[in-house]
Amino acid sequence: MRDTLLLVAALMASAGCGGDKKAPAVPTPPTTSTEAPSGMDVEPLRMAAQAAGKLIGTAVPSSLLRDGRYTGVLSRHFNYLTAEYEMKWDPIERTRGVNDFAAGDAIVAYGQANGMQIKGHALVWHNAVPGWVGGLPAAELRTVFESHIRSVAEHYRGRVRAWDVVNEAVADDGSGLRDTVFRQKLGDQYIADAFRIARQADPQALLFYNDYNGEGLSQKSNRIFDLVQSLRAQGVPIDGVGLQMHVTAGGRPSDASIAANMSRLASLGLLVNISEMDVRIRDLPGDLTTRLETQKAVYRSIVGLCVAEPRCDGITFWGFTDAHSWIDAQYGADDPLLFDEQYRVKPAYYGVLDALWRR
Ligand code: XIL
Repeated sequence: MRDTLLLVAALMASAGCGGDKKAPAVPTPPTTSTEAPSGMDVEPLRMAAQAAGKLIGTAVPSSLLRDGRYTGVLSRHFNYLTAEYEMKWDPIERTRGVNDFAAGDAIVAYGQANGMQIKGHALVWHNAVPGWVGGLPAAELRTVFESHIRSVAEHYRGRVRAWDVVNEAVADDGSGLRDTVFRQKLGDQYIADAFRIARQADPQALLFYNDYNGEGLSQKSNRIFDLVQSLRAQGVPIDGVGLQMHVTAGGRPSDASIAANMSRLASLGLLVNISEMDVRIRDLPGDLTTRLETQKAVYRSIVGLCVAEPRCDGITFWGFTDAHSWIDAQYGADDPLLFDEQYRVKPAYYGVLDALWRR
């Protein structure tokens, strides 16, 4: 790994690309993933991301950190790590009053050992809530809600760069807030409260609101904008908005629409990031080669929007190999990520690389 990095660095320097952040020459991308090189033999995305001044992240399940093939590609390409499940409320506090941080801690330790920063995900979400929370009366819910946020944020204080504090709180149709147990029993101000508690518990971490289907301009993203604008106006400690970016290659918002949404959020003084990107292709017409090329184009242009937006701090993908993606279970078998099931690079990898090098 180190030798390869040195080699790439030497190649960059010899091509006159070290200091001025211009792209090194790359071989022509293969047209199909079956001809493609291993993810272990290509330019590390994290080097290109560093040159672009962006973090490049992926969600991981802790179980795969024991798989050497998986971690080889993970550590080569990414410098920002998010727990796919392990830092949500249910896995931490399945039994009331007993916090189990072991799996989340393993992810943090892996990241630290590999020069990665950590994004905590997610303190307040209507899913992955422990079963015992549902039936609590309002006063008790308030107590456990506060102690959950406080104890988790304190536990990871100093070890996470950022938190997704509140996840998916806006209704799917953008008509208002989602009708969750938190809203019903704690009132709309549960969102502001969550940010305030998180800031107290970890004053250094950047605090994000995170949501899906609000990437481009739409009724839902208008509602998200109104929400975070009003939080800012009230002095609630929110630092940014995560745009999940679980998209289909054929139905995604336009570049112009995403860019406009990013820039209106940035104009509030907020950071933005792409927080959970994957690109479904199963419903696209054409053969696999064509669909993979379309997917590449989508990755390239959307990652490029973050590269072009000074207040976009990074891009996190929701996994990196098609061997392990939540999409298969959620939407049906697909190939939504950057590396195929054998950890070979897909055209999508080159799309991301091109975007990071502004090609
Ligand atoms: C998903 C994970 O990928 C699954 O493994 C888990 O079972 C459920 O959650 N939006 C989010 C993520 O914010 O936390 C979700 O992750 C995917 C949708």
